[in-house]
Amino acid sequence: MDLKSVIRTIPDYPKPGIMFRDITTLLADARGFRRAVDELVQPLAGAKIDKVAGIEARGFILGGAIAHQLCVGFAPVRKKGKLPYRTISESYALEYGVDEVEIHVDAIKEGDKVLLVDDLIATGGTAGAAIRLIERAGGTVVLCSFVVDLPDLGGSAKLRAMGKEVVALVQFE
Ligand code: PRP
Ligand code: ADE
Repeated sequence: MDLKSVIRTIPDYPKPGIMFRDITTLLADARGFRRAVDELVQPLAGAKIDKVAGIEARGFILGGAIAHQLCVGFAPVRKKGKLPYRTISESYALEYGVDEVEIHVDAIKEGDKVLLVDDLIATGGTAGAAIRLIERAGGTVVLCSFVVDLPDLGGSAKLRAMGKEVVALVQFE
């Protein structure tokens, strides 16, 4: 089964000119969801991961399943104002706006080897901010995993230029 074929494209969402790559159709497909999680876990065979960090909102769904499979804990990277305890935050530019993400100050322990997960990388603004948060907390991001890469927007190249390893299962031009 082809993962790309179960990802839906919504033109002009949330703004004119954006081709929104909607993975809810992949999540709704039992084989598609399972295959995506399995393919994201595969490159980690033998790697020592202490924690999965997943980015709100769709990174929670994928990251939670991956953390379960790896038998490690999960740290939510949330949009500003959603986490109840003390947080650290980083702001970033989106393909269509500006936003800020946060983690709890104790979500990542000093020395933790962290797998960062999200559904999609576009400009890399969100993932870049998440990496800064994790590394400010004393963790090391050892791999950044996405279902979808939009390579024309340069995010995956930006993360690789920062020295980060990036895995993405499908590309959309
Ligand atoms: C999407 C996607 C990533 C981010 C990628 O989230 O799930 O988190 O955009 O874009 P970037 O690489 O340019 O930063 P979105 O901002 O739509 O937020 P949501 O998950 O809360 O809907
Ligand atoms: N986040 C940023 N750009 C996106 C796109 N084109 N589709 C889905 N999520 C996105």
